[in-house]
Amino acid sequence: MITEPAGRRAQELVLAEVASYEARTAGSRSMYERASQSMPFGVTSSFQAGDPYPLYLAEGRGSRVTDVDGNSYIDYHNGFGCMVVGHAHPKVREAIEKAAATGTHFATTTESAVLMAEEIKRRFGIDKVRFTNSGTESTMDAIRIARAATGKEVLLKIEGSYHGHHDAVMYSVVPSMDSAGPTERPWTVPFSRGIPADTARSTMIVPFNDIPSLEKILADSGDRIGALILEPVMMNIGIVMPLPGYLERVRELCTKHGVVMIYDEVKTGVTIAAGGATEYFGVQPDMVCLAKAIGGGTPIGAFGGRVDLMDEITNGVAALGTFNGNPLSTAAGLATLTEVLTADAYEYLKKLGSRLATGCAKVLDQQGIPAVTSDLGCKGSVTFRDRPLERYRDFKEIDDELFEAYWYWLVNRGVYQTPGKEEQWTISVQHSEEDIDRTIEVLADYCATMHP
Ligand SMILES: Cc1ncc(COP(=O)(O)O)c(C=O)c1O
Repeated sequence: MITEPAGRRAQELVLAEVASYEARTAGSRSMYERASQSMPFGVTSSFQAGDPYPLYLAEGRGSRVTDVDGNSYIDYHNGFGCMVVGHAHPKVREAIEKAAATGTHFATTTESAVLMAEEIKRRFGIDKVRFTNSGTESTMDAIRIARAATGKEVLLKIEGSYHGHHDAVMYSVVPSMDSAGPTERPWTVPFSRGIPADTARSTMIVPFNDIPSLEKILADSGDRIGALILEPVMMNIGIVMPLPGYLERVRELCTKHGVVMIYDEVKTGVTIAAGGATEYFGVQPDMVCLAKAIGGGTPIGAFGGRVDLMDEITNGVAALGTFNGNPLSTAAGLATLTEVLTADAYEYLKKLGSRLATGCAKVLDQQGIPAVTSDLGCKGSVTFRDRPLERYRDFKEIDDELFEAYWYWLVNRGVYQTPGKEEQWTISVQHSEEDIDRTIEVLADYCATMHP
């Protein structure tokens, strides 16, 4: 338990660290002021906004990024988890340069797209793949196919998960507790204004790691539910692992009720293992959605699955996009998957990940800070709660002040994490043991400051 004086200490620390952040980042502030004249929140996606203003980066090399003021950081944000290859990786750069020199867009299928699709098939044990340009497009198209294949329109979604910004999945992403409804049968709460009210009829919500609730909703409404979309490890509320046996039982229930089981592996895919969570847990879904890290830092997404489902596309289900399989992105993606994220690379990432997670856990425990550390290869997190999260409503119990003080403390000392307790760190193949040890050192100082 964090004591009251420590809680006050965290509040004081946030104020002091925000002042120091502002003193170090005058260039980011002026970029923010200028950008706000031409872009909402002064950023290119609302998730990039931050208090008092976000960092504006100028460049990235290897494990490090540099902001517009010239401050250098060990990067664990890594472009919301995309840059497992690290910045400006020579192999990815070479692939992009070659593609740039020979034509950046044809809207026809190139060899790199074919080879990349084959590699994705191999990694995820799926029959066919369709490229998209983002995670949003991947989940949108997979859901459409599932609805078409089953003839059932309702989508089942996990409370507290984020699957992109198309209407069907923009429900119960971070609902407030007074709007969220009963624990075992949550209400469908819109995440944005501007979504037609009628859309809510086609999306139902269940809690993660809760088999009785899933059984109940499928028994009551399974004849209307065409798909269940889930992150096998929830990664938009920190890291929430599936309880032992959960995914296996979800698999059985989906099969029993004729529901297409869709894994959203936009974050876990090709990161926590070569074949993502599908490989890691050994439970095969019907469809897999990918994006982020598969492109080595270029915009690309993909989804795939069993041949009978993917054949819905040849039977008239629309899965379209001018830039699908763009040669710059597929060249970068192919180099990423075949030359950079090799079996050795995953071993290395695992080693670094464990070094970071174990080191963090040790210094947190030494000072009695209530926090849980997760270790999933290149992904991991520190969650300021005294026990692991099991579902969305646990996320509400995270100590916000401890997190905020931690984030500003780290960034002011050259460690850049995603600025939100809902995120996690991403380590790249270009991180070194020295990077990890420096990070643990900075965290140790934070812990000592919290409990002097
Ligand atoms: C699990 C998950 N699914 C889907 C998406 C949407 O991906 P994109 O931002 O590429 O549209 C995200 C983005 O953060 C995500 O974390």
